[in-house]
Amino acid sequence: MTDLDAYWMPFTANRAFKKNPRILSSAKGRYYRDTQGRELLDGFSGLWTTGLGHCHPDIVAAVQKQVATLDYALAFQAGHERVFELANELVKIAPPGMSRVFFTNSGSESVDTALKIALAYHRARGEGTRTRFIGRERGYHGVNFGGTSLGGMPANRKAFSSAMSPGTVHIRHTHSPADMAFSRGQPGWGAHLADDLERQILLHDPANVAALIVEPVSGSGGVLVPPVGYLERLREICTRYGVLLILDEVITAFGRIGHAFGAQRFNIAPDMITVAKGLTNGVVPMGAVLARDEIYQSLMQGPEETIELFHGYTYSGHPLAVAAGLATLSVYQRDNIFAATRAREAFFERSLHSLRGEPNVTDIRNIGLMGAVDIAPRPGAPGARGMDVFLRCWQEGVVIRATGDTVVFSPIFDTTDAEFERIFSTVRKALQSLA
Ligand SMILES: Cc1ncc(COP(=O)(O)O)c(C=O)c1O
Repeated sequence: MTDLDAYWMPFTANRAFKKNPRILSSAKGRYYRDTQGRELLDGFSGLWTTGLGHCHPDIVAAVQKQVATLDYALAFQAGHERVFELANELVKIAPPGMSRVFFTNSGSESVDTALKIALAYHRARGEGTRTRFIGRERGYHGVNFGGTSLGGMPANRKAFSSAMSPGTVHIRHTHSPADMAFSRGQPGWGAHLADDLERQILLHDPANVAALIVEPVSGSGGVLVPPVGYLERLREICTRYGVLLILDEVITAFGRIGHAFGAQRFNIAPDMITVAKGLTNGVVPMGAVLARDEIYQSLMQGPEETIELFHGYTYSGHPLAVAAGLATLSVYQRDNIFAATRAREAFFERSLHSLRGEPNVTDIRNIGLMGAVDIAPRPGAPGARGMDVFLRCWQEGVVIRATGDTVVFSPIFDTTDAEFERIFSTVRKALQSLA
């Protein structure tokens, strides 16, 4: 074993981990292998990334070919053919009117890019006072400064409080167990919670508000599924006050809830969409912002030789990421993956909800192939029971995730019935053995 000290691990209890490390060495399809040679069933699709399974042969081949052909291409004032092709392919499957694509390397970068585009758009239209952003409690928009400021998970903000952007406010989250516990799919109660947006816009004055950013389904915040009618109402309010609606679809795009984009499942027309993760099946880091044509056009002003948006990354549209993205999108299409995930939803839902009644389970939620189980915290030790479930499942060869005392599932799309049974019976045993 190599020395573990130098590597400062992300979102990890470094000291506990290094006493009892969990090190993966290879992966294929729905299974990882660890350094002890054990096989682990991946019930989390990497980190919401790998719906098509690990080391998909088409994606591997595309990346291998690309790395030997064009490893890097100058990204500013130059390009390479395939990045234009990937943008076109994304536009083909995007909601109508989302016709411009800006590439990034992650979800966090996509979020901060979308926020900057929103500011630039309003300014170009002579509405430069629109500088405030609205997020939502329990939202997660990555870890850069914009996304951290707009996110609504207290632990992610606490240490950085002084640097939170002063122009950000939050609407209330939609989780109300008394009104919706154990809902299957969208809760019927709660559309009116969207009216909190109008309250915030009026408080700060519409002329000062640039955009609302929300996840269609809060993922990292614990799979909070939007109540029926809620997202529609957010859209109406944004339109009424000239506020842009940014849907953060880093998790919900590319089949996780049965469509190319969550916007299509919920029939919402956003102004921008942020994506990452499933764009390349997690194989090479890549993100993107999709924008309505009007937003792009607003910036195409002044002399043609002028750079219109002073923003971009060295690795925007990196050839390896593009190769992975093109191969991934073509598998989604060829194998009809989005319809296939819709067909798995009912079985996943039934299996997940079979955990109702197990010790300490206080709520279960799901939509598409994402689901969560809330466990009552151990008195005086919040998060301990969630971590125990994660560790016990790992010991049994099943990978799930815990955020606090919420156990979260995001299975690989072609997980079989028997594998679902294995995932949930392992979690059941873990719940039954918890103190
Ligand atoms: C909705 C959402 N936005 C943004 C991000 C940040 O993505 P990344 O970790 O690639 O920066 C995530 C990551 O989980 C996410 O779920």
